[in-house]
Amino acid sequence: MEGIAQAQPNIALVKYWGKQRGGNNVPSTPSLSITLDALWTRTRVEFSGAHARDLVVINDKSDEAQRQRVARCLDNIRQSTGRDLYAMVESKNNFPTGAGLASSASGFSALVTAACAALDADLDRDQRSRLARMSSASAARSMLGGFVALDVTETDPAARALLDQRDWPLEVLVAVTSTNAKSVGSTQGMLQSAATSAFYAAWTDSAGDDFTAARRAVLRRDFQSLADVSEASCLKMHGVMLTTKPALVYWNGATVEIIHRVRALRSQGTPAFFTIDAGPQVKVVTEAAFVDNVRQAIEDIPGVVDIVPSALGAGARVVDEF
Ligand code: DP6
Repeated sequence: MEGIAQAQPNIALVKYWGKQRGGNNVPSTPSLSITLDALWTRTRVEFSGAHARDLVVINDKSDEAQRQRVARCLDNIRQSTGRDLYAMVESKNNFPTGAGLASSASGFSALVTAACAALDADLDRDQRSRLARMSSASAARSMLGGFVALDVTETDPAARALLDQRDWPLEVLVAVTSTNAKSVGSTQGMLQSAATSAFYAAWTDSAGDDFTAARRAVLRRDFQSLADVSEASCLKMHGVMLTTKPALVYWNGATVEIIHRVRALRSQGTPAFFTIDAGPQVKVVTEAAFVDNVRQAIEDIPGVVDIVPSALGAGARVVDEF
């Protein structure tokens, strides 16, 4: 009873930050993302009557907090499938974990996909996306490739495909400015923002308009409109983070300098825009013909430790090899 799966992180262009009350891990705002190709998580799950509890090894290490979060995800799968076996879970990332590179998104979508394969579970993609969402809301989106929407009009939402990556093959440069794990994780940070930021209500009130504008831009493949709404959504989310008490300042000096360089590039006619999540890394979205141009503009910035180029990629899937 073994399943192996691969999933890639996704980067939200219209962000979510904050959950609805009432549990179930439903975001308070709709979000729209692109799934990456070059970064990945691979996860092997083996259910067996021999295990007395779930065992979890991530990047060759065992951590009790991570084990419990994985076990809660497996509990949801056990409940949905009526199976009650414990599992051995092994997972690895080809990028830093917990540093604002969406490792929980690829991690939980790979976990759900591998566990469902191991159990030969009769759950369709929507059901698997919901199960991933229960563990990490952004993970719902990594179930799908290309451009993906997670609307929140339903009570138990699943992510939906908007546009295939082959229909608008944008490129992303992930500028890594620190490989340290973040000091305040997303789950905790957004709870603090909802409770303490004076901007939080304005954030939730305006997110629907951003989502609609981004959706339209994607369906029309309108780069300039997508750039405008994506940067606005990102900066608004960081406005909420900065006005949280205590303040969530995820940026470092290199983060800010990349913002300036990308804005300068765009004002000179290069199609490029930035987006930043709960960490100091900057993802720059551009078109294939401008990748070298963008790289040259940011690679000499002090503090940029790596630039990882990535095309847009596919959703979570079963694979043969770990
Ligand atoms: C800033 O999905 O990681 O990346 O559901 O608590 O695991 P949990 O949060 P998570 O939050 C992602 C927040 C974000 C924006 C986004 O991806 O929309």
